Amino acid sequence: MPKPAEKSTRLADVFFRHMVANMRNGVLAIDRDGGIVLVNDEARRLFRLPPGDVAGRPYADLLHEHPDIVRVLGGAFELKLLPNRAELRLKSTDTVIGYTLSLVRDDKGEPVGAALFFKDLTHVEQIEERERLRDRLAAVGEMAAVMAHEIKNPLAGIEVLAGLVRRKVADNVEAQSLVNDIISEAKMANAIVQEVLAFVRPVRLQVDRTSLAQAIDSAIALADGKASRGSILVDVELPQSIPAVGADEYQLTQVFCNLLINAYEALEGRGRIEIKGRLAHTAAEGALLPDGHVPVPTVIVDVADDGPGMPSDVAEKIFNPFFTTKAQGSGLGLAIVRKIVDAHEGRIDMTTGDGRGTKFRVTLPVEPHKTARSQGSGNRD
Ligand SMILES: Nc1ncnc2c1ncn2[C@@H]1O[C@H](COP(=O)(O)OP(=O)(O)OP(=O)(O)O)[C@@H](O)[C@H]1O
Ligand SMILES: [Mg+2]
Repeated sequence: MPKPAEKSTRLADVFFRHMVANMRNGVLAIDRDGGIVLVNDEARRLFRLPPGDVAGRPYADLLHEHPDIVRVLGGAFELKLLPNRAELRLKSTDTVIGYTLSLVRDDKGEPVGAALFFKDLTHVEQIEERERLRDRLAAVGEMAAVMAHEIKNPLAGIEVLAGLVRRKVADNVEAQSLVNDIISEAKMANAIVQEVLAFVRPVRLQVDRTSLAQAIDSAIALADGKASRGSILVDVELPQSIPAVGADEYQLTQVFCNLLINAYEALEGRGRIEIKGRLAHTAAEGALLPDGHVPVPTVIVDVADDGPGMPSDVAEKIFNPFFTTKAQGSGLGLAIVRKIVDAHEGRIDMTTGDGRGTKFRVTLPVEPHKTARSQGSGNRD
C-alpha cells in the first residue's frame, strides 16, 4: 500500500502531465545538455514533429527544420535576460509565434534546464491585418465617394454643353467628330465614377439559404458574358453533402464571378480552372474560428487556376482598391470580393507563386452570426 503522501505526489505528477499535454500553449523543455525533456501536443503540431518518443534527443537535431527556435534555445544558458513575450516568424511553416523562455531551476536555484512556452499567433495576426485593411478601405472609400460625388455634376455639365455645341456645328463634319469624342470621353469618365460609387455605397445583404452550386453556376454564366473564356476548362467539384449557406446569393455570385474573370484574364484563353468545395467542422480542417475561438461549421471553396501566378510584390497588394496590373483594369474586383466575404463573416485567402498558378480560398460560415450586416459592397453592373 503506498503511503498517502506518496499517493498524492503520484496523483499530482499525473495531473501535471495531463495539464501540460492539454495546454493550449506549446511547451518544450530541454535539460542542461540540450536533450529534450518534454514536448506537448501543441508544440508537436506547431513544429510539425513526428509522433513517438523524442525524450533525450538533442533539441538542435529534433528542431533542425526550425533554425530560429534552435537559436532561441541556444541562448537559454548564456543570456542574462531571457526573452519574455517575444515574437518570431517560423520561416519553415510561415507561422507567427509569441514566446517566453524560462530557466528551470532545482531546489538550490541551479539551472537544470530551460523551457519554451509559446502560442500560435497566426490567427491573431490575420485578424489584425484584416482590421488594418478595413480601416484603409474605409478611408479610401470615404475620399472616393466625396470625389466621385463632386465630379459627377461637372461631368454631366460637360456632356450637356457638348451636346449643345454639336447642334451649333451641325454642318461642320470635323467639329462634329471632335465634339462626339468629347461626349464619349465624358461618358467613360462617368462610368468610372458610377463604378466607384457602387463600390463605396453601403449595401445590405439579403441573407437567405443559398445553394453554392447555384451561385457558382450563375457566376460562370455571368463571367462568360463579361470576359472571353477561350478554350479554358472550368471544372466544378461540389460534394452533395455541402449544405445551403446563409448568404446573399447575388453577392456570392459576384464573388465567384470576379474570381473567374481574373482567372480567365490570367489564363489568356488557355488552361484550367478548378472550383472545389468542401465542408469543415474543426479548426484543423479549416473551419472558421470566430470571436469565441470555437470552430463553426464552414464551407470552403477553392478557385484555382494553372495560370502564371504572381510575384510577391503584386500578391501583397491585390486586395487594395484600385490596385491593378492591367491596362483596362479598375482594380476593384478583388476589393469587392473581400468586402462581400467580410460582410458574410468569412475570409478570403490567396496562395500563388511565380509561374505556379493561383488559388483563392473563400471560407464562409454555414450560418453567419448576424443575419444581415450593412457593408460597403457593391456590384459593377
Ligand atoms: N488569378 C489570377 N492570376 C494572376 N494574377 C491575378 C489573378 N487574380 C488577380 N490577379 C492580380 O490581381 C490584380 C487585382 O485584381 P482585381 O480583380 O482586384 O483588379 P483587376 O482585375 O486588375 O481589375 P478589375 O477586376 O477591376 O477589372 C490584377 O490586376 C492581377 O495582377
Ligand atoms: Mg479583376
